[in-house]
Amino acid sequence: MGRIVYVNGDYVDEAEARVSIFDRGFLMADGVYEVTSVLDGKILDYPGHAARLARSLSELDMTPPVSDDELLAIFREMVERNKLVDGMIYLQVTRGNPGDRDFAFPDPEKVSPTLILFTQSKPGLADSPAAKSGLKVISVPEMRWNRRDIKTTQLLYPSMAKMMAKKAGVDDAWLVEDGMVTEGTSNNAYIVKDGAIITRNLSNDILHGITRAAVLRFAREAQMKVEERSFSIDEAQAADEAFITSASSFVTPVIEIDGTAVGTGKPGPVAGRLREIYLEESRKTAI
Ligand code: PDD
Repeated sequence: MGRIVYVNGDYVDEAEARVSIFDRGFLMADGVYEVTSVLDGKILDYPGHAARLARSLSELDMTPPVSDDELLAIFREMVERNKLVDGMIYLQVTRGNPGDRDFAFPDPEKVSPTLILFTQSKPGLADSPAAKSGLKVISVPEMRWNRRDIKTTQLLYPSMAKMMAKKAGVDDAWLVEDGMVTEGTSNNAYIVKDGAIITRNLSNDILHGITRAAVLRFAREAQMKVEERSFSIDEAQAADEAFITSASSFVTPVIEIDGTAVGTGKPGPVAGRLREIYLEESRKTAI
């Protein structure tokens, strides 16, 4: 038996899970998703992920398939049924199956959304080797659509950017628009200069990372200076440190950008401290 996955109210073996070929998630990438981490069997930052899901759905005029409380119960059931200790819960909501292909949205009264969840086990998620070694990134042109604040399943360009990074022998890509870094393929991007933590301000240009919000809050509480503004690749290469954040990588240092070492070329103290604080604090509020 494989993983137990969730499909529209049912918990089924992954081999038995079925979604229609007419589902708009499949035909139109008409869907949104969330990735939430689990450490020691507890869900990290659930309220943040639930709130962003609600916002993504509302921005696309999609109906929430279940309430926040029902969703939390499903998350817990998924952890329980899969005996998940460390890893992630993936959730996707699509506009559902109208029974045929049509560009126009179906009537939400007639077509209900599709809700699926699955778990990904990652033993030792909090001790990933990348946190110690740091990541190398390249810059690539930003070519996604202009509503990057909505967490949609249109992930073809981020996947292409990831492949460009792999081909270049590095770990990831930072996307650049009008000379300024927006974010990473699947994470928010930061630099540190003279003690200040610099990351792009919130707008439709980037995903409003749940980890970003938590890390900036903890940084401010620890009296660290935070500047929410754009930065260029040149500025990043001349920075003291660089790092990324996401639900699955927490805080992970970046040690090289386009072949240039950042700072000492080793993971820096600010990223290290923020990772520690983030893990400690978010474990406290995990549910
Ligand atoms: N990615 N920016 C983008 C484009 C992302 O895809 C993600 C998350 C983030 C970080 O957001 P958060 O801190 O809420 O995870 C920023 C997830 C992990 C993924 O697609 O797997």
